[in-house]
Amino acid sequence: MSEISLPVEPLASETFIREAQKVLRGNILRSFTKPAPALYPHQWNWDAGFIALGYAHFDFKQACSELTSLFRGQWSNGMLPQIVFSIQNTGKYFPGYAFWNTRGVPGKPRNARTSGITMPPVHGFVLERMLGAAPDVKTYKPFFRKMFDKVALLHRYCYQHRDPDSEGLSFICHPWESGMDNLPLWQDVFECFNMDPADIPPYERRDLEHVDAEYRPRKESYDRYIYLVNLLRRKRYQEPEVWKDYPFQVQEPLFNTMLSRSNEALIELGAWLRRDTGQIREWQQQTIRALNSKLWDTNSGMYFAYDRVHRKLIKQHPASGLIPLFCGAPDHNQAARIVAWLQSPAFSGTPENPAWLCPSYSTQDARFDERRYWRGPVWININWLLYHGLKRYGYHVLAARVKSDSMELMHRYGFWEYYHPWKNVPKGQPGGYGSGNFSWTAALAIDWMAEE
Ligand code: GLC
Repeated sequence: MSEISLPVEPLASETFIREAQKVLRGNILRSFTKPAPALYPHQWNWDAGFIALGYAHFDFKQACSELTSLFRGQWSNGMLPQIVFSIQNTGKYFPGYAFWNTRGVPGKPRNARTSGITMPPVHGFVLERMLGAAPDVKTYKPFFRKMFDKVALLHRYCYQHRDPDSEGLSFICHPWESGMDNLPLWQDVFECFNMDPADIPPYERRDLEHVDAEYRPRKESYDRYIYLVNLLRRKRYQEPEVWKDYPFQVQEPLFNTMLSRSNEALIELGAWLRRDTGQIREWQQQTIRALNSKLWDTNSGMYFAYDRVHRKLIKQHPASGLIPLFCGAPDHNQAARIVAWLQSPAFSGTPENPAWLCPSYSTQDARFDERRYWRGPVWININWLLYHGLKRYGYHVLAARVKSDSMELMHRYGFWEYYHPWKNVPKGQPGGYGSGNFSWTAALAIDWMAEE
C-alpha cells in the first residue's frame, strides 16, 4: 500500500538556506558542531569535514574551527580519531571516552579525549573546496599550511600503518571506520570469525533512547562492534602488534576513494603552498592502480570491498561501490558500467516503484532494508560524493538528478540523517529517519545551494 507522493511546495531559497544555517548553529558546541542534537553529542571525524563545507559559505572562521578542533585529537602517528569527545555531555553517549580506554595510550594527545579508530579521510578535498570559498586567501594561508601538514600526516598513517603489503590500499579495522557502519557487507566478514561471548564486555546502548530500534543496528551487529573495540583496547591500540590475529581488516572502496581524492587535493594545495608532494604523488598512483586491480570486478562492473584476513572479495552492492567516480579511478568504460548500475533497478527502482537516488544499498538484495541505517536509506553525503563523481565524468543530467532528488527530500521532510529510498513511502511511515536537524545534511545543502 503506498501513498501518492504529492509535490511539495519548495521553500524559497533564502528561507531554505536560513533553515539549514539554523541547524548548524543549533548544533554548535563551542569550537565545533556536533552531528546531531542528542544522538551524536561529540565531534565526529568525517562529519566535521562535511560540516566545514557548509560553513565555508557563510562563516569561514567556523569552518576553520571545525577542522582545527578535530585535528586537536590527532595521534602522534597521524591517526585521526573517529570521535573527539567533548568534555560536556559525558555519559550521554555510548561508547564514550571511558569505554574506549585510550587514556594514557602512547601517542594519543594528552589534552584530547578520543576514540581509538579512524574514519574516511575526507579532509584533503575539504580543504581544497574551502580554499575555493575562502573570503580572503592571504589571511587564511597559515591555516591551510598548518592543515596541509596534518592531513599529510594522516595520509602517511593510512599508508604506513594500514597498508602492510604496500599495495596502495588502506584497510579499515572496524565497520565504524567506514562511516557506513551498518552495511550488510560487514556481516560477511563477521561470519568468518568466531567470537567468544566472554570477550564481549557488558554494555548498554544509548542510541535506542533517541531513535526507534527498527531504524538502528541490530544487537548481533552491535555485539560485534563492541567485541572489536574490546580487542583493540586490550592491546592498547599498539600498531602493528594489534593487527596480528585481528579478524577485521577490510580494504574498502569508499575509504580509499576519499584517500585518493584527498591525495589529489594535497598535490594541488602543495603546489600553492610550495610543499614537496613527491611521496603523495606516489601514493596516489598506487591507490588508483590498486582500486582498479584489486577492488574492481570486471564481471560485475562495480568496485567491491576486499577482506584481507579471509582473502576474499565481498560481492555485495552498497552505494560505496559507485563512489570511486569521485576520485577519477575508473576509465570511461568502467564509469559507464557504474552509471548502468545507478540507473538499474538496484539503485533507481522500477517505473512502478521508483527510488530516490541513491539508496545506500541495492534494493534488489535480500538484505536491503528500506528503513534501517545504511541498509537501504538515502544519505545526503553519499549523494554529494556521487554527484561530484558523475560530474567529473560528464554525466551532468544524472548528477543533476542526484542533486534534485536530495533537495526534494530535504524540502519535503527536513534535514534528516537518512531518508526512505522509495518515492512512494508506504502509508504510516516517515520519510526521514535517525536524527532530525542533522548537521552534514544541512551543511551539504548549503554547499549545493552555493553553486547556483
Ligand atoms: C553514524 C554514521 C557515521 C557518522 C556518525 C555521526 O555513526 O554511520 O557515518 O559519522 O553517525 O554522524
